[in-house]
This record gives sequence, C-alpha cells and structure tokens, in this order.
Amino acid sequence: MKFTDSRNSTINEALQGIKILKLYAWESFFQKKIQKFRDDEMVHCAKFNYIAAYQTMMYVAIPLFINVGTFGSHYLMGGDMDPSTIFTAIALLQIIRMPLTMLPMMIIGFIQAQNALSRMQKYFDADEQFDFTEKSSDESISLKLQGDFSWEESDDAKKEEEKEEEVKGEDVTKDVGTELTEIKLETQKFTLTLNQSEFVVKKGELIAIVGEVGSGKSSLISALLGEMEPTSDKNSPSNKRQQAFRVVSGNVSYSSQVPWIVNETVKNNITMGLPFNQEKFNRALELCALVDDLRMLPAGVNTEIGEKGINLSGGQKARLCLARCVYREADVVFLDDPLSAVDAHVGKHLFEKCISGAFEDQTVILATNQLQVLSSVSRIIVLKNGAVTEQGTYKDLYEKKGEFMSLMDKHNNKTKEKEKEKESEKLERGKLRGESMDSIHSDHSVEDVASQKPSR
Ligand SMILES: Nc1ncnc2c1ncn2[C@@H]1O[C@H](COP(=O)(O)OP(=O)(O)OP(=O)(O)O)[C@@H](O)[C@H]1O
Ligand SMILES: [Mg+2]
Repeated sequence: MKFTDSRNSTINEALQGIKILKLYAWESFFQKKIQKFRDDEMVHCAKFNYIAAYQTMMYVAIPLFINVGTFGSHYLMGGDMDPSTIFTAIALLQIIRMPLTMLPMMIIGFIQAQNALSRMQKYFDADEQFDFTEKSSDESISLKLQGDFSWEESDDAKKEEEKEEEVKGEDVTKDVGTELTEIKLETQKFTLTLNQSEFVVKKGELIAIVGEVGSGKSSLISALLGEMEPTSDKNSPSNKRQQAFRVVSGNVSYSSQVPWIVNETVKNNITMGLPFNQEKFNRALELCALVDDLRMLPAGVNTEIGEKGINLSGGQKARLCLARCVYREADVVFLDDPLSAVDAHVGKHLFEKCISGAFEDQTVILATNQLQVLSSVSRIIVLKNGAVTEQGTYKDLYEKKGEFMSLMDKHNNKTKEKEKEKESEKLERGKLRGESMDSIHSDHSVEDVASQKPSR
C-alpha cells in the first residue's frame, strides 16, 4: 500500500505538471522514479501472489492430506473401517474445510482493515480548527489581530522532531569517534508574533506590509484570513490561544501571491459567480490594464483559460485576480504582492488607478516588495522574522531612518543594478545593430521614488 501510494502520488505530480515536464525533458527522470516505485511494488505484489497461490494449492491439497492422515492413523491404531464411521468422518471434515480455507483470507482482510483504520484515525484525531474570530464594538475599526501564530506542522516535520528528541535522549558517548556524513541544517519554526494594538486597521486605510523575503507578509494575511492557527503553549495550551483574536468587519476579497485561476472564461474568472454587470466589468478591466491584453486573446473576454491559467502570462494572471477583487467590491481587500509580476509602468498604473484609486472607500492590505509605491499609502508596517519592527507613515519611517530605510536602500540598489544591466544590454544590442548612442539613451527613464506624493 505504501509503495502504491508513492507511485500514485508521483504519477499525479507528473501528470499535473506535464507541460513543464515535457518542456524541460524530465520524462526519463520521472520515468525512472516511477519505475523504482513500481519495482518495489512488484516485489510486494509477487510475494502476495505467491502466498495466494500457496493458499489455493493448500485449499485443494489439505482435504486429501487430512483424509489420508485421519483414516491412515485410524487404521494403524486398529480402528474399525466400516462405511458408517468413514462417511460420518468425511462429512465432519467437510464442515471444517470451509473455515480453514477462509482463515488466510481473514488474516489479509484484518491487516487491510487495520491499515485503513489507522489512516482514518489520523484524520479523526486531527485538531479542530480553532476559531479566534471576535466582533468589534468600535465601528470605525476594520481589522484587528493579536497573538502568536504558527503554521501547522506537517507529518514529516513532526516525525523529524520526534526523531531528534529520541536522539537527544540517547547516550551520546557512543557516537564519539564516528564520522558525521550528513550536514544538518538547524530548523527554526516560523512564528508570527503580534502584540497588543500592533495590528489595528481603521476603515478605508491602505496599509502596506513590507519586509524581506520570508519575513511573514503572506503569513500575516493568512492569519487575518484565519488560515494560520494561534500557537498553543506546551505548558498551558489554552492560555496563549485564549489571548489570540482577530476582528474582520465586513466581507473580504483576496488576491493570493500565486494567482489562482480556474479553468473557465476570462469573464467567469473575474465575475466568479456574481451576477454580470457590464459597467462594473468594464471598469475592472480598465483599472487592471487588461483591455489591451484582451484584444490579443482569440475570443476576448470569452476566451477559455486553461488549467492553472496556462495560456496567460504571469502578469496577466496577477491582473485577472486583481480585477476579480475590483469586481467583488468587498469591504476589506487583501492583496498579496500583486505588483511583482508586472512591468514598472503597469505597476504604477495598477497602484495609482486601482489599489489607491478604485479601492478608495475600502480597507486595503497590500503585502509588497515593490517599495517605490509606498510613499502614497496610509501606513507602512515593517515585518522582520514574523514580528512588527516599525510602523507609521512613509514620512515617519523616512525620518526614523531605521529598518524601513535600510530596506529602501537595498531596494534602490537593486533597482539601480537592474537599470545598469538593462542599459548595458541595450548598449550591446545597439552596438550589434550599429545604432547611434543618442538613440539608445533617449528612451531611458528612471522612476524617482521620493517625488511621489501621498494620496491616501
Ligand atoms: N502554507 C504554509 N505552510 C507552512 N509554512 C509556511 C506556509 N506559508 C509560509 N510558510 C513559512 O512561513 C515563513 C514566512 O513565509 P511568508 O510566505 O509569510 O513570507 P513572505 O514575507 O510573504 O515572503 P515573500 O516576500 O517571499 O512573499 C516561511 O519560513 C515559510 O516557510
Ligand atoms: Mg509572500
């Protein structure tokens, strides 16, 4: 069963990503991997079938052996061999034949049932989702979050932890002199920590969440959505949980970091089950700069989008998800890095027209790595290792010259490096084409971050 599971999950993985698999010519790698699981499975299948064949043979042979053995010993011991004794004995032996042949099948059935039960037990034993949602009496507050939150540990991680604890408990002196062949990375569990009144958002605010990669921006949005569980203290499990709460006023819309596209038309991907309204729909397309893209699609808004948005570019997928949020007109909008996959000028359009424009009356939480747009948000929250290190307006943080400014410096350096790379690429291309240097430099523009004025 274990090997069948492994084989099936690998086949599923290969089929789900068949396009990429073909594109990168990974067929032989996957074929070998599947073949390995199949070989292991075959060894067990062969064993199982040998036992089944042996069982069938015994089913046919055992009555004969029993009859010969019983009557032979009866005769040798001087017993009467009259028909009444013999036929009665045969009838009785016939009765126990059935239960005897069923015994091996019962053992196999018992093992299989035990296996299935242990799988189901794991599901039934899983923790109930802890609801830490509360209602706020203050109508001006849109979002509130407090507590320590962590991601649920996977089974593999739990097993690893158990193993580590076992190793710790063992006598370490016996390992002296043995060579370590494996380098182990020290694992650290990610925890999002939000103290009292750290995360309070008023209605209509546009909050930007910034921080380095892996600092917990997406996790903060997940905690607000109730996807992340409050951490329970090992010593007093209920204590820490009781302190955690989240307040979300009104309905929400969410654009995830990895765009979520369904196998439907562009139109249905935007309306997502809501009644169609041409005016609202056109507005969403315009605000998300999708009009030109739709002209390129064969059937415009009625173009069927393939599985996982296969016939759309990364930027188109991100904008489609953003358009879905515009169309929904929810009270609270969560946007997880919607500008990462688009060009700088499209990003500027999206931010000005859509994020800070169209969502003007809505509460917006924008997790982003595009720091050039931040001068016009209501408040910036800086995260580091899952904790809020700074928060305030762009001006406050600029004057404070703390964590945010060091992020900004890094971002500016990266942008400059990219600009330089682009410039040298253009120069190279220009040289190859024999263009004049003037024409190469004429279309070059660098965005001035500091010149942007706050709009909300
Ligand atoms: N669904 C999840 N299950 C388990 N762990 C997760 C999950 N999502 C994120 N993590 C972990 O939480 C930590 C923070 O990740 P998160 O995605 O919140 O960072 P981020 O700031 O959004 O990064 P990025 O800038 O790359 O988007 C990481 O260590 C990551 O491994
Ligand atoms: Mg993220």
